[in-house]
Amino acid sequence: MKYGFIGCGNMGGAVATALSASTKDIALSDRSGKGKALADRLGISYATPAEIAENCDRIFLAVKPHMMEGVLSPLQPMFARKKPLLITMAAGLSTAQIQSFAGTSLPIIRIMPNTPTAIGKGVIPYCCNDLVEEATLSDWLSDMIPCGLLDALDESLIDAATALSGSGPAYMYLFLESLADGAVSCGIPRAKAYEYAAMTMVGAAEMYLSTKQHPGALKDAVCSPGGSTIAALRVLENYKFRAAAMECIIAAYQKNKDLGK
Ligand SMILES: NC(=O)c1ccc[n+]([C@@H]2O[C@H](COP(=O)([O-])OP(=O)(O)OC[C@H]3O[C@@H](n4cnc5c(N)ncnc54)[C@H](OP(=O)(O)O)[C@@H]3O)[C@@H](O)[C@H]2O)c1
Repeated sequence: MKYGFIGCGNMGGAVATALSASTKDIALSDRSGKGKALADRLGISYATPAEIAENCDRIFLAVKPHMMEGVLSPLQPMFARKKPLLITMAAGLSTAQIQSFAGTSLPIIRIMPNTPTAIGKGVIPYCCNDLVEEATLSDWLSDMIPCGLLDALDESLIDAATALSGSGPAYMYLFLESLADGAVSCGIPRAKAYEYAAMTMVGAAEMYLSTKQHPGALKDAVCSPGGSTIAALRVLENYKFRAAAMECIIAAYQKNKDLGK
């Protein structure tokens, strides 16, 4: 089998969902059996982790970082025999740590996806160890197209990217919910408030991506002198919105670095 997943919860499930648009040659595995329903829904296989290690050429590792060593160590004899490509998405764990948990030298790709991957809108920085061959990488990148943006990044920066795009959807949902709560306070019905807030986030993001204008210039274009937008921005500045956003990324980065210790 081409692809296997060890773990298919929030993130593994999101990647498997998108990948299944490229190929159905995928098997999922987990601990509880919950992944069977997802496999059935996607029209792919369900197996045990040992069967995945035995039969799959490329294996996504999607268990929690603190569980990785315990999950991989019983699979070491199969890894030594079959030499699969491992694709790890565990926050904070380096390719070198994954190799040591796997117990043998293997090609390893480290990815840092985010949950919008499930709908093809993921941001997925990746890096590879020296054993990943060019042809394998290019075939894998082609299979991953339905996941969203894949971008090569030096491994030393993956923890920082994890703090930005890996955790980022949670920051966006908090902001979206807060904006909508404000609008509901002003009388807008709840469903409309979520929809307007979400579409405003999408529109602003797409405006930046298509124009590549400086975010400050795009912001200035919304602010009429003496108007309501600049009055609103004064409130965000008074509540230290910029500092909070910067500190939240730095806190997540520090935590990611600690996970790998
Ligand atoms: N969530 C995110 O937004 C995000 C973003 C970037 C990276 N990541 C990374 O993705 C990985 C998974 O995170 P998650 O949020 O998807 O966690 P999750 O929802 O808790 O999923 C973990 C998966 O691992 C399975 N699992 C646990 N023990 C296992 C075992 N012994 N053998 C086989 N499978 C086992 C679980 O199966 P059961 O359900 O049966 O217990 C579940 O399918 C983590 O390393 C995390 O750092 C997550």
